[in-house]
Amino acid sequence: EAQRVAIKARSKSRNRSASKTRNHSVSRICAEDFEFGETLGEGSYSEVKRATHRGSGQQYAIKILDKGHLKRKQKLPVALAEKNTLVKLGAGHPGIVHLHWTFQDEWSLFFVLDLATNGEMQTCISRLGSLSTTCARYYAAQIVDAVEYMHSKDVIHRDLKPENLLLDDAFRIKLTDFGTGKLLEPSVDRAKSFVGTAQYVSPELLESGETSKSSDLWSLGCIIYQMIAGRFAFQGLSEYYTWQKIKQLDYSFPDGFDEEAKDIVQKLLVRDPSARLGVGAPGSVNDRQALRSHPFFATINWSTLWTDPAPPPE
Ligand code: ADE
Repeated sequence: EAQRVAIKARSKSRNRSASKTRNHSVSRICAEDFEFGETLGEGSYSEVKRATHRGSGQQYAIKILDKGHLKRKQKLPVALAEKNTLVKLGAGHPGIVHLHWTFQDEWSLFFVLDLATNGEMQTCISRLGSLSTTCARYYAAQIVDAVEYMHSKDVIHRDLKPENLLLDDAFRIKLTDFGTGKLLEPSVDRAKSFVGTAQYVSPELLESGETSKSSDLWSLGCIIYQMIAGRFAFQGLSEYYTWQKIKQLDYSFPDGFDEEAKDIVQKLLVRDPSARLGVGAPGSVNDRQALRSHPFFATINWSTLWTDPAPPPE
């Protein structure tokens, strides 16, 4: 037994020194490989900068997280969870920001992400006031498709909102910010300690702190409403009053709101999470196909959704 332990220890130390050698001989990607440009966004523990990879000329968005800050606020596990979620989602879907590499230096963690050159959908809505029904339909379909992929990988976003929906160079959406995401694994349960952005948070999260895939569908309802109405579905004078309105399902549609859009929103903004459109088990009457087949999406060609040109922003 002693011999076995000794062999194990030797082989461990050999592995360590081998990987050390590897690190010195084969250069790993690092901050010096990029030329950093303007700041694209800022969060409480991070900022996102435009960056050009010197070797290839390829442009990326690099999320830089401050290690000292993360440690002090005990947010290292959150950063790690974000990385794990992005790794799990991989490059499997065009509507989700892809993590290309991660690296770190003494002070920061770096996440090299797809660059979405047309920024946040929130900016687009603010600039235009609201979106045409055609435009809103196109974006809603892309969100549905990206969210379904994410859910198929057992990831819940939990903070879906127009600030987290980026637009790429072709004005297609890229879902980002998985810092609040949850991997559906019994070992990682942060569900009860998290509340998302007030206006998009689901009643079940407010009432019992519980989230499921269905909470993302509630947020989808809020986003469709906002794109078309140009204002939040639920908005009180403070976060508290916003939450009251959500719990009471206290919202109304402005005049002229498209009837089919109204119907889909009404089927998503349902208090019972198990009754929302699209949450049913595959094959049931309320499954993901029911969401895709809703009359609001009648003109959407789901098989060319990511290659069709985006409708002009209006
Ligand atoms: N802001 C935050 N993340 C971004 C990204 N990946 N691309 C462009 N802008 C961003």
